[in-house]
Amino acid sequence: MTTDEARQRIDTLREQINRLNTNYYVLSQPIVSDYEYDVLMNELIKLEKDYPQFKDENSPTQRIGDDSNKEFEQAEHKYQMLSLGNTYSEGEVADFDNRVRKVVGNNVEYVCELKFDGTSISLTYINGRLTQAVTRGDGIRGDIVTANVRTIKCIPLTLNGQDYPEEFEIRGEIIMPRAVFDELNAEREDIGEAPFANPRNAASGTLKMQNSSQVAKRKLDSYLYYLLGEELPYNSHYENLMKAKEWGFKISENIRKCHNIKEIFEYINYWDKARENLPFDIDGVVIKVNSVEQQQALGFTAKNPRWAIAYKFKAEQVTTRLLSVSFQVGRTGAVTPVANLEPVQLAGTVVKRATLHNADQIKILDLHLNDAVYVEKGGEIIPKIVGVDISRRQFNSQPVEFITECPECGTHLVRFEGEAAHYCPNETGCPPQIKGRIEHFISRKAMNIGFAEATVDLLFTQGLVKDVSNIYQLKKAQLVRLERFAEKSAENLIKSINTSKQVPFQRVLFALGIRYVGETVAKRLAEHFQNIDNLAAASFEELVKAEEIGEIIAQSILKYFQDERNRTIVEKLKDAGLQFAIKENDFQPVSDKLKGLSIIISGVFENHSREELKQMIEQHGGKNVTSISKNTNYLLAGDKIGPSKLENAQKLGVPLLSEEDFIKMIQ
Ligand code: IVH
Repeated sequence: MTTDEARQRIDTLREQINRLNTNYYVLSQPIVSDYEYDVLMNELIKLEKDYPQFKDENSPTQRIGDDSNKEFEQAEHKYQMLSLGNTYSEGEVADFDNRVRKVVGNNVEYVCELKFDGTSISLTYINGRLTQAVTRGDGIRGDIVTANVRTIKCIPLTLNGQDYPEEFEIRGEIIMPRAVFDELNAEREDIGEAPFANPRNAASGTLKMQNSSQVAKRKLDSYLYYLLGEELPYNSHYENLMKAKEWGFKISENIRKCHNIKEIFEYINYWDKARENLPFDIDGVVIKVNSVEQQQALGFTAKNPRWAIAYKFKAEQVTTRLLSVSFQVGRTGAVTPVANLEPVQLAGTVVKRATLHNADQIKILDLHLNDAVYVEKGGEIIPKIVGVDISRRQFNSQPVEFITECPECGTHLVRFEGEAAHYCPNETGCPPQIKGRIEHFISRKAMNIGFAEATVDLLFTQGLVKDVSNIYQLKKAQLVRLERFAEKSAENLIKSINTSKQVPFQRVLFALGIRYVGETVAKRLAEHFQNIDNLAAASFEELVKAEEIGEIIAQSILKYFQDERNRTIVEKLKDAGLQFAIKENDFQPVSDKLKGLSIIISGVFENHSREELKQMIEQHGGKNVTSISKNTNYLLAGDKIGPSKLENAQKLGVPLLSEEDFIKMIQ
């Protein structure tokens, strides 16, 4: 490489990495994998080392990223918040061990820990009380998020015992367990919000919310792994952590002391497999020198401690060919690009499609048709394209262009300022948007009318159901004329439609599909406004007075009722006899047979959906929990329950309950 070429490559890399940083830190929408990012970063580090004349203090190699957000007050870290040097290679772990031994001699002990994939936090305790919680920010200053952190159950507000230092800091990771993440994303999809890309983004997004009562609902978890202060109890990292555990901090059970590289590799290889059984994501392991004195002897570089290194697991990756890109229109009109791939085997399944998130990602990947692409299955279930092998690009291949017109109805797409997605604005005329609203309306959590997606399609294309109010005008005679329906199934459908007229007001409200009005919001609105007329007549000020109703939800409700077409649909549904006011016992528990009991549901059940079981638990005064602990009273277990859940239940002594026993309990 000539000096000129090096200069050019350095510039390109800096620009690319800066763009990736914006996507990751500012937009919370990472568009390449950590691995891809690290490869670019390491190439830049190496070039800057080989060509020191191009050193620049504004280069992304000189910063550790910045997660700060101007809506929070900031605080300076008493001790700079550094990150770890990381590697994907066992050889480099051995190099690390050699470097350490050169400085401190052969009498060295390591502590191996899990590398939690969340967002880091620094907590200050003075006289045993939590006084401040600050995010990493740029490493020097971070956002003060104390109010939000106080809502995280496992972070102690006051400490146990007496032997803690007067003042100290403890650092760790805030994470979102996978089960909480799945539930949150399902809820977001219900209300037409874009799902989070992975638990790490969900955790950092949640920590930066303005309303701490909302944070409390998201059930974040946290592990702590690093103590700092002038008067720490011990001279060893491990013993300090064990002491912190006595004070009430959540410290991982999976920390191991290791004495040589062989033991370190055993730990790495064990967790590379076993991590799939953890209820949360880890992205590697961290290896730390145990002795605090030796740590001091080793010291720090500008960015990292020399006494620790992170070994990152490589997500399983394959290359395949991009055949075409299709564009899908969702219920809210958001347009998602989807890559159609040459089928390829990846992590046990055949992958034919991958998400491409949005137009930005296509641009950043500089995707061309027929490109050889790298596909990965990371923490996400849907595989994604994380890079392109430019060296295999075919001559004359065409760049992938984002469409300008809706593929379903031809309307010109719009992109709102500050949003990554393109939308089709034709809400009432675009088939997938209409069908999506109907599917949402009949779904189990909403009106619970038993017809399949294919039936919605059929009824829509036959012109029988053009909006949700038409469902209640359907006649058996019309149905039996259709291909899919026999006498009996038509009868059942009509029965199911009639039964839905008894569905309580809060679920009808949820079923209408007003943007941002999910199940819980619908419940709050129903409680507060009692009936649809009060709600439709409410002003912005009246709306935000209701519990949990913020400005965005209020605006969305106003917009819904301002639209004549929506008001007509509501009137027609009213005429059809749906519940548009709360009934006396809608919010009263049916019994208190499960009072004081925390129950976790897992698996698939024979006679009831999980949603129905959850409702039953609440109706009888019990509490639904999503993660198992020693305070859980029962595990309501169906078929296909995960082996790790079972094992956990056994370990914690939580008894199993069958569907049948549960029904007996509440009868
Ligand atoms: S120790 C001075 N231990 O990984 C070193 N970090 O780039 C302090 N992380 O910023 C960090 N698990 O957010 C440490 N067991 C662990 C960790 C861990 C996750 C995160 C942390 C840090 C990043 C490293």
